[in-house]
Amino acid sequence: MRPATPAADPDAYPPPADADTGGTAARRYHARYGSVLPAIDLTASNTPPKVHPGAHVIPLPFPPGAPAHASGLDPAASESLDNLDNLGALLALLCGVTRIDWTGAGVGAGRPVPSGGGAYPGEVYVATAFGLCHYLPAAHALELLSPADLRADLVRALSRPPAHRPELVLLITTRQDANLARYGPFGHRLQALDTGVLTGQALTVLAAASARPTAHVLFAERALGGLLGLDPGAERVHAVVTADPACPPTPTAELLNRRSARSGFEPAPVPVAQITELLDQATAPLPLDSPDGPGTPDGPNTPDAPDAVGCELYLVAGRVTGLEPGCHRHDPRTRKLVPLTPGATPRALFPPGGPGELAGFEAACALLVVGDHERGYPEHGDRWYRMLNLRAGILGQRIGLAAARVGLGAGLRCDFVSTETDRLLGTPPGRTALLAVLIGPERGSGTPTHHLLFPGGHR
Ligand SMILES: Cc1cc2nc3c(=O)[nH]c(=O)nc-3n(C[C@H](O)[C@H](O)[C@H](O)COP(=O)(O)O)c2cc1C
Repeated sequence: MRPATPAADPDAYPPPADADTGGTAARRYHARYGSVLPAIDLTASNTPPKVHPGAHVIPLPFPPGAPAHASGLDPAASESLDNLDNLGALLALLCGVTRIDWTGAGVGAGRPVPSGGGAYPGEVYVATAFGLCHYLPAAHALELLSPADLRADLVRALSRPPAHRPELVLLITTRQDANLARYGPFGHRLQALDTGVLTGQALTVLAAASARPTAHVLFAERALGGLLGLDPGAERVHAVVTADPACPPTPTAELLNRRSARSGFEPAPVPVAQITELLDQATAPLPLDSPDGPGTPDGPNTPDAPDAVGCELYLVAGRVTGLEPGCHRHDPRTRKLVPLTPGATPRALFPPGGPGELAGFEAACALLVVGDHERGYPEHGDRWYRMLNLRAGILGQRIGLAAARVGLGAGLRCDFVSTETDRLLGTPPGRTALLAVLIGPERGSGTPTHHLLFPGGHR
């Protein structure tokens, strides 16, 4: 059971790290602010990424694999330089600039991970033998925050630490104000989805470096924040990923090709086999530290199926050859799609007249991550809500990558009204749609893009 914590204000969400209302604050927040609409203000700006003025800045080689710059680190250091090279490759594929996009809004830097409204509220910190650093994605550089090896201290704050000290500890935080001007209080839920996307990407990229990663969501948050020097009112740790990279990560085609289908979808049918393949890849077990479901006795590194972590997938088919139009539930055990509500369409998931309705009309199908809202409050308290949205983000990231792998376009969306979407899906009480992903063949040749990295590495 969850340890007793001081009572918190049930109207304040997110509650302070050391306070908890047993889920009351999270339930109230979800009822009032769980949907983005109608509070969004598209004219408002997101806050800029974090920098640490005065910190020593270490440029990373770009493109990864190019000769390393002088790092300024102690270079008894060829080992550090090797690590920096590999670390640079890992961070570029995690959230660096990997392409240039030409869109209606002009020329922009494209990232391997999606982010709600392009706000990128997540920050990434890296602890290795040579110290604690903060990653600057736009500059592809590290800010050296401490030359001390803090890995043992960081791991001590995890509720389910790995059996040995990991070679690499990634800490994923969110800036609390990052997207609030634009999205209002809904921005907090969006931040949890976004840091989930980053966590999922870290797991994927580290798996591509044979690093046996584990994502940790249960930890002493204040202790970790203190080690990173965070102001708890401004920035909070959402996830920690521990890993032991054995080789540089491989920049696979899907890691480089993933992007949102900004030009929309060709309203053309997609064979069910392609969707089944996508689902098989997206629902592979997750290496999470907090198994809540059955059959996970071995602790960290025991991968969990999505439904064992409080999320399941629903598919609303529009134009999927071999599948009846309507709503289906993905059964992770049989891997079959179980028909639920006939007649539901991807278009009807979104409010009439909005951009979601048009995108839904064009898409072949929509995948929805549905969270078991009530399941974790008894054990985890209010934090469960963040954990659940984070898991939905991990699944959203996997679906986006799996779509790129099978050659389909995809777009993550949260511009639906939860109560309406839940009604259409027929979700049981206590379960709610957290994230939608529209899928279909991307229109024409898609948004013009110039890739900066190539499958297989530096050319
Ligand atoms: C959690 C989440 C929610 C999103 N919701 C929407 C949405 O409601 N509507 C939309 O057009 N795009 C949405 N996006 C996509 C972002 O706008 C997109 O990822 C961002 O502009 C970066 O572009 P890219 O994905 O092509 O790299 C969402 C992305 C994430 C991660």
